[in-house]
Amino acid sequence: MIQVKDNVFHINTKNTSYIFAVTKYGDLQQLYYGEKIEFQQDYKAFFQKRKLLLVSTLYPEYDVAYGIDDMCFEYSFAGNGDMRESACYASSNNQLSCFQYDKYTISNKQNNNPNPLAHNETESLTIYLKDKLNGVKLSLVYRIFNDCDCITRSVCITAGNSKLNIKRLMSLQLDLGRCDLKAITFNGAWSRERQKQEQLLTCGKIVNDSLSGASSARHNPFMMLAEQNADNFSGNTFAFNLIYSGNHYEMAEVCPYGKTRFLSGINPNGFELFLAKNESFYTPEAVMTYSDKGYNGVSNNMHNFVNKHIIPSKWQNKEKPILLNSWEAMYFDITEDKIFALADRAKSIGVELLVVDDGWFGKRNDDTTSLGDWYVNTTKFPHGMRYVADKLHNMGLKFGLWFEPEMISKNSELFKAHPDWVLGNLDRQPLILGRNQFVLDLSRKEVQEYIINALLTCIEDFGIDYIKWDFNRMLSDLSSKVTPLGMANHNYVLGLYAILRAVTTKHPDVLFELCASGGARFDLGMLCFMPIGWVSDNTDVLSRVSIQEGTSYGYPPSVMCNHISICPNHQTKRSTALQSRFSVAACGVMGLQYNLMKCSDDELFELKKVIEKYKKIRKILNGAEFYRLIDGFNDNFNSWLMVSENKGTAYLMLFQKLFSPVNNIPKMKLVGLNKNVVYSIEELGMQATGEVLMKNGLILPQNFMGNEKHPEMSDFSDFTARIYTLKVLS
Ligand code: DGJ
Repeated sequence: MIQVKDNVFHINTKNTSYIFAVTKYGDLQQLYYGEKIEFQQDYKAFFQKRKLLLVSTLYPEYDVAYGIDDMCFEYSFAGNGDMRESACYASSNNQLSCFQYDKYTISNKQNNNPNPLAHNETESLTIYLKDKLNGVKLSLVYRIFNDCDCITRSVCITAGNSKLNIKRLMSLQLDLGRCDLKAITFNGAWSRERQKQEQLLTCGKIVNDSLSGASSARHNPFMMLAEQNADNFSGNTFAFNLIYSGNHYEMAEVCPYGKTRFLSGINPNGFELFLAKNESFYTPEAVMTYSDKGYNGVSNNMHNFVNKHIIPSKWQNKEKPILLNSWEAMYFDITEDKIFALADRAKSIGVELLVVDDGWFGKRNDDTTSLGDWYVNTTKFPHGMRYVADKLHNMGLKFGLWFEPEMISKNSELFKAHPDWVLGNLDRQPLILGRNQFVLDLSRKEVQEYIINALLTCIEDFGIDYIKWDFNRMLSDLSSKVTPLGMANHNYVLGLYAILRAVTTKHPDVLFELCASGGARFDLGMLCFMPIGWVSDNTDVLSRVSIQEGTSYGYPPSVMCNHISICPNHQTKRSTALQSRFSVAACGVMGLQYNLMKCSDDELFELKKVIEKYKKIRKILNGAEFYRLIDGFNDNFNSWLMVSENKGTAYLMLFQKLFSPVNNIPKMKLVGLNKNVVYSIEELGMQATGEVLMKNGLILPQNFMGNEKHPEMSDFSDFTARIYTLKVLS
């Protein structure tokens, strides 16, 4: 709900309020973001009370007490006397633009923003600002998602009567009148994505950004600001994400006057835009949420937001097929016969989708060649891909195929025909390569058309049910033949979205999985087109548990693809029990990456059993509430609870990193259950009320002690994970 009263804008979601006002000078002043406050008759209590000059801050003529540098603004402009990092730097005729309030509208209309947007908002508010001097217009768009306590923010700027130069235009600014917060970011690298890091905010800035051309494994655009004592269960916490897949930028700054500013948007580093007279530019949409229930509180809001408002509606609440991917089973050494043999075994253990990964096209026998040549390698697949798809379909399996559409190998037919399609300057020596490949300049229409046609042809000719969309190198030289440098990354990303829009609109039934050397582009922009994503190449259970835990802060398990893989693990050489690999992979969209041809009958039987168990778990995955019961980044244990929407079923995952003799398994206080009913815990043969499990906690049987054994003990050794099933007794 939005109320506008005496120039105060008061937005309420289910549990939160966001309030700002127009000041007497036409600025927008941030007044409140936090726990829900009912609409008021009078908002005087929210304003700063100042009568005196705040020494050393700048002020508007005639009002020394309006200390610009100490105000909480809704959106700030360079040149306006605010010394903090500004949200907007725009100029025309060598004059900076500063904006003042003009008017507002409340509507449910979608605007013309070419970026992917969240869908099904409750309401939206647009605030129009104007630069009186040179006619530049700026609108701030707020869209409200009541059911998940989220508000999205985006900005549109329109040039006046002369050319406008823009050096930065952030999607979101949030000024908070406090400086007692910490920043929590999710950082990493290949095979070590989204590791949680907490930093106290003190005077100065913390930047969380990417310059890799994609959202990156280095710093995910999701981040939180929280009270310093906040944890998974308590403490006021704000969380933010950007619906964007390119270079992003999040900045938290504590100013000398005890305020904290947060910015999120396209990375201004390297960004520059010129707009012609009356031309407009739209930023991507950023999302923010607040909870007084700590990290789990904001995670739940973000999970609901992703499930209900980000992934394509078509895939909402749909169970995803259990797939077997050929990559670690065969790498490039794939053939039709091998795939059929693998499929046979896969089918026999309950797999539902067979994915032919890299190596099926052009002359692709290793990673030096053929990206861009999206036609079948007939040496490996002599009867073509339609034959493969038909045969798999006849076996009762779905058929999936790997693509890396944004790339081009130097050794390819495509490169021979269109060397100029490469992003970057081919005359520069040495050329900068990533996995032997170049990036296509997706800002070019003809490149977009080539990729769209190639994909549509394959989808239609082969009969594809699933596509894994990979992206295996970072962008470097952004020199484009058609796009100005300052817009090369952004227009690349818009080109990518245009391709994704065209292909997914034409084939809404094809399931897309996002992937980027593992999880290097795991973001809300990609999830708008693809309902699931490859979290990481690393499937080792110890590594994976922390990657999934880090990812769970901003993204729901229902979009996280996890595979059970063979031991020793290909990334870490570690060997762990199948039950443990299963228990962690099952907390998401489970699949397999396994050479079943090397499995004994016993192993196949075990795999069949865990697949059967997963088919029960996945039923609750889409609407489940997910809780981290322990901070796995700072503990020897990770513990996750997934509770079904009706609270009738819950799955508890417990993982132990290292065994130490005579240690205790922690007592876990469960959350989100129905306190008035009795739950049975299948694996333990015990029962307890929801109230007891939530107030006293679940006590697991004593762990084995090193030499003493008992049939009813727990058996958590190194890298052990287990899933416990809670069901309401009927
Ligand atoms: C990187 C992906 O993350 C892997 O799963 C696999 O698809 C390879 N690329 C194939 O080249």
